[in-house]
Amino acid sequence: MKKIASLTLDGKTYELPVVIGSEGETAIDISKARKETGFITLDPGFANTGSCQSSITFMDGQKGILRYRGIPVEQLSEHSTFVETAYLLINGELPTRKELSRFSIMLNDHSLVHEDMRAFFENFPKRAHPMGILSSMVNALRAFYPELPERSDEEEINITFARLLSKVRTMAAMSYKMSLGHKVIYPRHDLTYCANFLNMMFDSPVRPYVIDEDLVKVLEVFWILHADHEQNCSTAAVRLVGSARVNLYAAISAGIAALWGPLHGGANQAVIEMLQQIYDNGGDPAPFIVRAKDKNDTFRLMGFGHSIYKTYDPRARIMEKTCHKLLEKLNRDDPLLDIARRLEEVAVKDSYFIDHNLYPNIDFYSGIVLRAIGIPLDMFTVMFAIGRLPGWISQWKESIDDPKWKLHRPRQIYIGPKMRDYIPIDERS
Ligand code: CMC
Repeated sequence: MKKIASLTLDGKTYELPVVIGSEGETAIDISKARKETGFITLDPGFANTGSCQSSITFMDGQKGILRYRGIPVEQLSEHSTFVETAYLLINGELPTRKELSRFSIMLNDHSLVHEDMRAFFENFPKRAHPMGILSSMVNALRAFYPELPERSDEEEINITFARLLSKVRTMAAMSYKMSLGHKVIYPRHDLTYCANFLNMMFDSPVRPYVIDEDLVKVLEVFWILHADHEQNCSTAAVRLVGSARVNLYAAISAGIAALWGPLHGGANQAVIEMLQQIYDNGGDPAPFIVRAKDKNDTFRLMGFGHSIYKTYDPRARIMEKTCHKLLEKLNRDDPLLDIARRLEEVAVKDSYFIDHNLYPNIDFYSGIVLRAIGIPLDMFTVMFAIGRLPGWISQWKESIDDPKWKLHRPRQIYIGPKMRDYIPIDERS
């Protein structure tokens, strides 16, 4: 039976349709509320607002569930590859062998970066943050490659997506090499997407990089876990900017800028900085926990808490296991991992964290994984961005194809001064 919500305002009752998702999630459709009632809804941060209906990713924050196109991330991180997961997110189904091979060939064919783009990289100040560089460079791709026309055929669309997925990875490694003043390593046709990235980052004419399949698998898992997260801040930015029908590169560039923030993707870098600070101060996490609980202190425990997960982030569990296995394999102790473990142990038993539903999120362990692979700290959020690309692309595609598409234009409640007259400068007190 169709559910209806009713709203009574000034003695008049309005009926509002209820929308039910495939996993039983419910929403009250207020899209006609302003027209019919004259009222808008107020929801700072949009935490109670569904901006779209989507068939890409399902999350349940209370139960700690994350699925891409219905498939649990636990299964994907165990059995899939990042490229296959990207295909799943963008196309809705797992690829056949033939489809996967075609997709991989396309990624390989479009992996080179236009040589003229080197000049852009060379002219950034040496201290520029790689996320700022990446956001600018992705926007600049539009100057080199055509925009998708309104009615593109499937091949054009696939090439554009492959171009973006492949080039962003190449550009990330290229910017790292250039920041060192080293020779840029080009992508190789005989390597997989993830292996290619590691090779472009770490191969050198004086020390050839030996591909380690275990490290490749760790990177696959890292990127699979980051591949989509429904309407998070950066994805919402991609959809919002994209809603103005701007080109795909500009929309993704906006997503990268949003991801840069320490409350979002920048948290993986912030966690390591926090753990390092604890280490430098003798290694005792207790004073930091006290600070995180102090309302007069702006300090937050980085890598803890999530807007949606009010339990353990399912990605954090996989990341922790991956981290443990990796350090064991590399036969390496990381003092920051010990601190992270102690910090988690204390925090999850502390009433403040329990009452506020604050548990480790993906970023709590991902930084330690990246450190072990050899990724420099300021590239951590770039690693997140490469992983999130399939999500941004699929969400952008879904929004563009949505027959109910609308230019995003939220409203506000104005609380500024009422109408007043302009005062000439000489008459102002
Ligand atoms: N440390 C201490 N207190 C916290 C923390 C934290 N990490 N996170 C939230 N709180 C407190 C906050 O002070 C507030 O307390 P009170 O209600 O007493 O005033 C309450 O919890 C709710 O905070 P909020 O900011 O309204 O909650 P939110 O759900 O919107 O915040 C968050 C989500 C991720 C911004 C926040 O938990 C946070 O800042 N975490 C640290 C940064 C971080 O790890 N970000 C990575 C998120 S996962 C990667 C991704 O998907 O982007």
